[in-house]
Amino acid sequence: MATFRALLVEKTDDGFTRRLVEREERELPEGDLLIDVRFSSLNYKDGLSATGNPGVTRNFPHTPGIDAAGVVLESADAAFRPGDEVIAIGFDLGMNTPGGFGERIRIPAGWAVPRPEGLSLEQSMILGTAGFTAALCVHKLEAAGMTPESGPVLVTGATGGVGSVAVMLLATLGYTVTAVTGKESQHAFLREIGASDIISREDARAGADRPLGKETWGGVVDTVGGEILFNGVKSLRYGCSLAACGLVDSPAIPATVLPFILRHVNLLGVDSVQLPLDQKQVIWEKLAGPWQLSGLEALKAPLTLETVSDAIDRILAGDMVGRGVLTHG
Ligand SMILES: NC(=O)c1ccc[n+]([C@@H]2O[C@H](COP(=O)([O-])OP(=O)(O)OC[C@H]3O[C@@H](n4cnc5c(N)ncnc54)[C@H](OP(=O)(O)O)[C@@H]3O)[C@@H](O)[C@H]2O)c1
Repeated sequence: MATFRALLVEKTDDGFTRRLVEREERELPEGDLLIDVRFSSLNYKDGLSATGNPGVTRNFPHTPGIDAAGVVLESADAAFRPGDEVIAIGFDLGMNTPGGFGERIRIPAGWAVPRPEGLSLEQSMILGTAGFTAALCVHKLEAAGMTPESGPVLVTGATGGVGSVAVMLLATLGYTVTAVTGKESQHAFLREIGASDIISREDARAGADRPLGKETWGGVVDTVGGEILFNGVKSLRYGCSLAACGLVDSPAIPATVLPFILRHVNLLGVDSVQLPLDQKQVIWEKLAGPWQLSGLEALKAPLTLETVSDAIDRILAGDMVGRGVLTHG
């Protein structure tokens, strides 16, 4: 009987508990690919899943982990063979389908991309959904016209997963980056990964009652939502764009139409979860090629199945720095 280890979240009368368990492969759902998961990574959404957020996970007991990179053990799809190295992020993985915080997953072939040449399985998980989303934000901003000449780019939630990869990627691509952080202790880290300027969350939130801000940013990658997001929109230079991907501060936006009709600016939505696989592949190929990040290992916070539960509490408290990478085995 084939068994594997997994973090299991269970619903009890007192809330949600987490423990390490042995599971059997036959307990996994139907699917084309049985994958030996070598690496996963911790994302904010895993914290939501592990604490029973019904917008993420409704069925318990459950194994979170919206990211997985590993080796195909069994394939019912002609596109993959045993031994193939694959990356799976998004779709239902780790939401209501057992995810990468288990040593095995079984998923539809349509959720997996072959590991691109130029990116190791571990590097793909240092990036993970967060890094992929940072790249998707930059991709969408550039498609809307952003270039290094547009002006400095603001990144909010900058020490977090999406934020830290966005800072590093933008700096690598020649952009001048201003980072917003609530962590005074991490200014040196932010400068090391490419931030030229740093502002506090309080400063980023200030002036939320004003109709417009000074035209400052050539682009914004926003991971937090709320007042900070709309202050970003109000301070874009004429015709520039903000990519919105997160809500750690608030899903609500205190908005008026003024920046849109007076400054011709754009608010761009970014979703990495349901993004069609062919478009996911384009972003992975970029990250493995022209957008390869030489300093990526600096973002890695190593995790194991034994330590991931504590890290879940830290990410929910906004205390993680960089990318938590879970190595199995
Ligand atoms: N749209 C998508 O497809 C997609 C994909 C991935 C992630 N996301 C979303 O993006 C967001 C970030 O994800 P993540 O994995 O990067 O999370 P994370 O690692 O926890 O990073 C979030 C960062 O935001 C800052 N922050 C925390 N609480 C805050 C608050 N109340 N106000 C302002 N800033 C705050 C913190 O950075 P500082 O201390 O440096 O300020 C924190 O490290 C989440 O909302 C996640 O759900 C969306």
